[in-house]
Amino acid sequence: MMKLRSFSSFGIPLFLSFFLLISTSTSRCLSPGPDDISFIRKTCKKCAQSDPNLSYNFCVTSLQAAPNSHLANDLRQLGKISIKLLGRNLTNSRSYIKEFLKKKMMDPFVRSCLRDCLQLYSDASLTAKQAIQDYKAKRYDDSNIDVSSIMDASTTCEDGFKEKEGVVSPLTKRNNDTFLLSAISLSIINMIRLNDD
Ligand SMILES: *[C@@H]1O[C@H](CO)[C@@H](O)[C@H](O)[C@H]1NC(C)=O
Ligand SMILES: *[C@@H]1O[C@H](CO)[C@@H](O)[C@H](O)[C@H]1NC(C)=O
Ligand SMILES: *[C@@H]1O[C@H](CO)[C@@H](O)[C@H](O)[C@H]1NC(C)=O
Repeated sequence: MMKLRSFSSFGIPLFLSFFLLISTSTSRCLSPGPDDISFIRKTCKKCAQSDPNLSYNFCVTSLQAAPNSHLANDLRQLGKISIKLLGRNLTNSRSYIKEFLKKKMMDPFVRSCLRDCLQLYSDASLTAKQAIQDYKAKRYDDSNIDVSSIMDASTTCEDGFKEKEGVVSPLTKRNNDTFLLSAISLSIINMIRLNDD
């Protein structure tokens, strides 16, 4: 009788942990593989619903191209990936503007706009780093403010070129990308914020 009792009291947890071990390892096998972007799709559907400026296709295409995004299976991971993606995009655009400014022949008005944009993009790159820190520390309100200011930088840059008639902004696509990538991050941050309450 004693033997049986000690067997059962040890045996059940042992059996349970064995069962848990099996079930976690099978669920790992079933977690998203390299081609599984269902979580990205699901999230982008919500993002596009919450923000009319954001197209579902742009969201899926952008997030899908981000490193490790197909492995993300919760909103927190995907949010971090999206802010990092935004940060890389900003750094890249900043370098592009810097190179562009090396051109000799340029309308002085365009040059002064580009200089403003370089400053805006430099600040935005730093702000993206802050946004990731805030996000990791679950300071979602701060992270929201950071990303919103990055979004504003993209429209400020683009609007600069509109102040003179006939001038075409050479940065329209990049500003648009910055605006939309920010919108994705903001949308995810706000979803997490709501879930956390
Ligand atoms: C959509 O974009 C327009 C133009 O940039 C902006 O005024 C508006 O606030 C944006 N809407 C949202 C929900 O972000
Ligand atoms: C920025 O992101 C957009 C949208 O994902 C992408 O099309 C573009 O190539 C990126 N640009 C840079 C310079 O990384
Ligand atoms: C911004 O990019 C999106 C997606 O690539 C496109 O649908 C939209 O027309 C662009 N907007 C502007 C103002 O260029």
